[in-house]
Amino acid sequence: MNFGTLSTEWIKQFLRPPFKPLLQFTVQYALPTLKPMKKQFFTACLLALACTALALTPKLTLDLSKQDLKVSPMLYGLMTEEINHSYDGGLYAELIRNRIFKDNATTPEAWSLVQPDTSANASIKLIAANPDNVPNDERRHAINGALTTCLRLSVPKAGIRVGIANEGYWGIPVKPSTTYKASFYLKGTGSAQFGGRRGGQQPQTPPAPVIENNTAGPITVTLESPDGKTIFATGTIDLAKSNLWKKYELTLTTGSAITATKDARFVISTDRTGLYYFNLVSLFPPTYNNRANGNRIDLTQMLIDMKPTFLRFPGGNYLEGPDFANAFPWKTTLGPIDNRPGHKGSWSYRPTDGMGLYEFLMWCEEIGAEPVLGVYAGYALNGDHVDAGSLLKPYVDDALDEIEYVMGDAKSYWGAKRVADGHPAPFKLKYVEIGNEDWFDRSNSYDGRFAQFREAIDAKYPKLTCISTIADAQYPTMKVTLGKKAEVLDEHYYRNSWDMFENASQYDNYDRKGPKIFCGEWATREGVPTSNLIAAIGDAAWMTGMERNSDHVIMSCYAPLFVNVNTATATAPKAWQWDSDLIGYNAMNSYGSPSYYVQKLFSEYLGNVIVPMTASGIPKQVRPPRPQRPGATPNATPETPKSVPTLFYCATKDDRFVYLKVVNALGTVQPVEISLIGVGKVKSEGTLAVIKGMKPEDTNSITEPTKIVPVITKIKGVAVSFKQKLAPYSVNILKLEIVK
Ligand code: AHR
Repeated sequence: MNFGTLSTEWIKQFLRPPFKPLLQFTVQYALPTLKPMKKQFFTACLLALACTALALTPKLTLDLSKQDLKVSPMLYGLMTEEINHSYDGGLYAELIRNRIFKDNATTPEAWSLVQPDTSANASIKLIAANPDNVPNDERRHAINGALTTCLRLSVPKAGIRVGIANEGYWGIPVKPSTTYKASFYLKGTGSAQFGGRRGGQQPQTPPAPVIENNTAGPITVTLESPDGKTIFATGTIDLAKSNLWKKYELTLTTGSAITATKDARFVISTDRTGLYYFNLVSLFPPTYNNRANGNRIDLTQMLIDMKPTFLRFPGGNYLEGPDFANAFPWKTTLGPIDNRPGHKGSWSYRPTDGMGLYEFLMWCEEIGAEPVLGVYAGYALNGDHVDAGSLLKPYVDDALDEIEYVMGDAKSYWGAKRVADGHPAPFKLKYVEIGNEDWFDRSNSYDGRFAQFREAIDAKYPKLTCISTIADAQYPTMKVTLGKKAEVLDEHYYRNSWDMFENASQYDNYDRKGPKIFCGEWATREGVPTSNLIAAIGDAAWMTGMERNSDHVIMSCYAPLFVNVNTATATAPKAWQWDSDLIGYNAMNSYGSPSYYVQKLFSEYLGNVIVPMTASGIPKQVRPPRPQRPGATPNATPETPKSVPTLFYCATKDDRFVYLKVVNALGTVQPVEISLIGVGKVKSEGTLAVIKGMKPEDTNSITEPTKIVPVITKIKGVAVSFKQKLAPYSVNILKLEIVK
């Protein structure tokens, strides 16, 4: 080759991926370690490799004559748990934070006192907040076993507006012409309260000021700006003349002229003296389908748009809980919210359990998805486990009760409870997952635990399939060997985009005679709080591998699904615990990450038969060495460079269309040649759906929600053999019509 005749354009190719990182790596790491002769040889090989790759246009051949491998009908679904304020402060539409005052035993988080100035001398106090030590003068205020802590407002002076305000989950959203349903328990009482038993414990706190009260009269409820100067909606209730708790309900309707804002607060106020006790303060905006205790409309719609076939719940770590006492307590999440104490969640805040088992099931129905029910299997996040055998039996029985609630007939004990809760027909259920990530249980007790659950479930519900949370391929030394082999194994992968590129064809090699795979949690973790463009490219690459193998990978779901994107404020902590999530929101708005749109398109453009494909000339790029962990001893020998493909692909079809998905992981345009064999003709016009961007870190956010969204266009010139240019960093879906 005469190097003098190389055109500048040709040389420029080497300054772009895939060659640029290859050359960089060579110059920086590999060449310095080689002797001069070897150096020349190595450089020549690199150039030869580059020339070969440049000479070939990648070619994808789809064999449309084959029909034997079917796409799993449940390939794409959703995974969910209470993390990142997914439900409280997320999908579950309740707007009042800390509605039963149990979020913090020392301070009424999210609540504040409303008074014009300190001369009003009003105060608020948590009553009976610490269940282990309730002072005598704070006793006898519980409503029931769930509502044991309340908030007391002391109003010593008449004629001044005084009240309690809730700031919501990083704001309370108000919109014009909207009706909100408010409710709360309230009792007013004097300082002379119900007497204690003679000789009983004396009050530990000084007596409250003597206040005239207990007369019937108005209490005002408002939605207002944080400074109280703008009132968006107002209403009153008539406080009963009684020392007993009473539940009050009212609606608040905003005017048509108000400007929508999330910067509002909810206030209950009075100008009459008294001691006022509050509990279970609730405020609901309109919900999806107007379901009582229901879900946020915008987020529900985003899920419906994804066309999910199933919903895996209630976790994740949330199923297991931090300790035995705090596994997802499905029984105390049923019935009126007045009976739900909430529990200690797994992600550093206290779930209300407003999103209870019944609500999960209704959510499934609303989005057209089938439940994939995770049952608690006796392993807690603190590392404790319950041994298989008689100790585990109550847990197995509990799971059987739960399944009966979901799908038992109306005559069964738990089936009847479901009917009473409002759903006469059994819910559809096919898959039950036993536990979550039991590979963390280093005692190896899952083998026995899984077998005991599976046996009991098989005996009572032979049509159900139990999913094991330990997968052979991921944890080869932890196989579940007791009893029959599990039919479905759950694998979890949280990776970066390079890992996704490197492992995108992992499922091509799985033994088809082995158990089916449920990829029950996976994500490319790049981007904060929601994942970015390169993560979406990594996701799409990984999904081509799952889709191509969806005869064997029967279900998959990205995780985590939701993130409340609020950072810490003076009165509330940062809302999320896990970076790189799919759908972001604050109290008012929501948006999809680029990964969300990949999920949406993959499930929207899907056939029912897998189209076998072959490829040639796929360029590779060199994966840069992994950065060393801070503080680790530097590697004496650099990591051997790995080359990974720059294009990823899969195809499915139905009676009419072929759906070809091609991912370009390079920051440059890549042309591809597409050949369809086994078909006479295709329509010359096709559809192209593209998600793309210029920089790997490009992303959507709450302030720029639609920077990266799918662009759908018509393409001309489609034939049994045609060329298509793929934009830099792009996910491309081609929908081609077969002419019969
Ligand atoms: O998705 C976040 C967490 O990752 C899940 O709760 C857990 O199952 C996994 O470790």
